[in-house]
Amino acid sequence: MSIKILAIETSCDETSAAVVVDGLEVLSNIISSQVDLHRKFGGVVPEVASRKHLELINHVIQEALAQAGLKFDDLDGVAVTQGPGLVGALLVGVAAAKAIAFALEIPLIAVNHLEGHIYANFLVRPDLPFPLICLVVSGGHTDLVLIRHHGDYQLLGSTRDDAAGEAFDKVARVLELGYPGGPAIECLAREGNEEAIDFPRAHLEGFDFSFSGLKTAVLQYLNRLRQKGEKVNLADVAASFQKAVVDVLVDKTLQAARTYGCPAIILAGGVAANGRLRSALVSRARREGREVFYPPPVLCTDNAAMIGCAAYYKFLRGDLAPLTLNAVPGLPLVAP
Ligand code: KG4
Ligand code: ZN
Repeated sequence: MSIKILAIETSCDETSAAVVVDGLEVLSNIISSQVDLHRKFGGVVPEVASRKHLELINHVIQEALAQAGLKFDDLDGVAVTQGPGLVGALLVGVAAAKAIAFALEIPLIAVNHLEGHIYANFLVRPDLPFPLICLVVSGGHTDLVLIRHHGDYQLLGSTRDDAAGEAFDKVARVLELGYPGGPAIECLAREGNEEAIDFPRAHLEGFDFSFSGLKTAVLQYLNRLRQKGEKVNLADVAASFQKAVVDVLVDKTLQAARTYGCPAIILAGGVAANGRLRSALVSRARREGREVFYPPPVLCTDNAAMIGCAAYYKFLRGDLAPLTLNAVPGLPLVAP
């Protein structure tokens, strides 16, 4: 029997619903982005996001079912992102999922948003070889995770200050490239010289990261040139900044793969859509005989299909949620 799961994701600024069969076949993956709404504020405004999720959620769920050619009665389970994320935004998805589970009397599955990002990889490659090293790089997280089996995670390191995506967004703002910053920086960087400016790389001991010093260095560089009345080559700044982020991410990820004897590495989260990061990691990993996998860009950024995939494996383990489920804005991937 095939398991059809309706998945809902509302942790930040995308209202998304998907129908995924057996953690593999995506029958629909509706993503209604609020980016245009938040752009004029230069970032996500939590209260605005919650209101928009409320407005959109029922339409997005109906659309996901319609595109999948299914009715509510065809579903075997309903999955939802429980956290981490913005509490008001998460609550909209959690309330909708609980109502559906209650009305249809089907299992409710609570998914950690970061676990969802990780499972975007299994949507594409269900046969990934364990143990895996996963670099989770999003707007809110920069985590190195050792995955021994499905659902078995060890957090090796994370950022001590800004997340990688946050650094992209903040630097894009000072370069006046708009929001979200990652894709804008990647695009501009293609026209620049990534060796032009030697921005600092923070190589902390162990597997932790730090990006706030790099962000400050970019700001100081711009101020210095502007004070001297010199023209700034924005493409060179974007390319050199991107290279500095990528170098540290790749160094640490390979170091983790060596330490834990992992032949395969996976990328997850919005920043995993970055072409420079993908190509640098692939070519350096290849020299060590390691393989790198990553989802297509649309599955790297927030979407419900990844939640539906993670939910399937939780469903198989019997890891179901009660109808008293609540949103947890600071939900960790691994319980401390
Ligand atoms: O995973 P995601 O969609 O949302 C969170 O869970 O945070 O990640 C969003 C982040 C933003 O910071 C955005 O600037 C970054 O991912 N991002 C990128 C690219 N596409 C999205 N960063 C670098 N290069 C990209 N192509
Ligand atoms: Zn995300």
